[in-house]
Amino acid sequence: MFSISKRSDVEPFHAMDVLAEATRRKAGGHPVISMAVGQPSHSAPRAALEATRKALDEGRIGYTDALGTVRLKSALAAHYRDRHGLDIDPARIAVTTGSSAGFNLAFLSLFDAGDAVAIARPGYPAYRNILGALGLKVVEVPVTAETHFTLTPESLVAAEKEHNLRLKGVLLASPANPTGTVTGRAALKALAEHCSANSIAFISDEIYHGLTFSGEETSALELTDEAIVINSFSKYYCMTGWRIGWMVLPERLVRPIERVAQSLYISPPELSQIAATAALTASDELDVYKEAMLPTASSSCAGCRRSACRSLLPWTAPSTPMSMSRASPMTAWRSPSGC
Ligand SMILES: Cc1ncc(COP(=O)(O)O)c(C=O)c1O
Repeated sequence: MFSISKRSDVEPFHAMDVLAEATRRKAGGHPVISMAVGQPSHSAPRAALEATRKALDEGRIGYTDALGTVRLKSALAAHYRDRHGLDIDPARIAVTTGSSAGFNLAFLSLFDAGDAVAIARPGYPAYRNILGALGLKVVEVPVTAETHFTLTPESLVAAEKEHNLRLKGVLLASPANPTGTVTGRAALKALAEHCSANSIAFISDEIYHGLTFSGEETSALELTDEAIVINSFSKYYCMTGWRIGWMVLPERLVRPIERVAQSLYISPPELSQIAATAALTASDELDVYKEAMLPTASSSCAGCRRSACRSLLPWTAPSTPMSMSRASPMTAWRSPSGC
């Protein structure tokens, strides 16, 4: 009898298990409202749907370059120019099969088995599982009110001491899932500088960019060219099922990522790349969807004075407690008091 790898013995991604159960029950004719995973309720923007229909009518959908089409990479570079005032060479952009594939590619290209990578606890559970499946050591650093629910240079140093190891990488999401914490510019800069000074790869998950309702929204790219930025069309662009995301990479990491991507995925799906290129022109429509989330967000927790909830207030959004968390399509968010 063959054996099964130890690396596959990761915790299930419970939200996906709940989704599968909901699907089973629906198929059995039960009325189910599935709230298992974070999905925007809107469909992809009109421009994306139109571009897709046109491409289907034209017929041939094929492989593309492993790191994506020049059109999409150029459109993403223009996005950074417009939103962040940054001049990003499209050659530093890698299009991926959702941000999930981006994590795989980044971890495989940056780390060797046994290397230690820090993530926040609580955090998005798939980070831990992907790192674990790749044989990396997961260092979960608790984030609390004292650290404004984000990682800090001090908490990283403390984790290295506690576990008696040197970190090879740090992964931070801002806005974060599930806390909704938006790490402010100064804190992000301190973290990036600490990583750079200590030869630690700094991975910034910016998947919830575009969905902040107050405070600043800093890309790690504004602070350093050394950051590995991972993003996606799943959330703000309402395109979860299209499985399309991207990374912005330090120049010297592009070729290693490309080599791994060529064999792991060949290329991201061309149809989704066509749709994503069009979606980048649809911010007027998408901003309306985003604003529509806000009343739900503030009314659902308005007036909440429970201490457990107050302790979770996002750092940069004190006037709209948990607006990000409540409004955004995040996975598995629960306020501690269940309100
Ligand atoms: C913080 C965070 N990162 C990454 C992902 C994965 O998204 P995708 O693979 O659809 O881009 C999610 C999904 O909910 C998430 O919450």
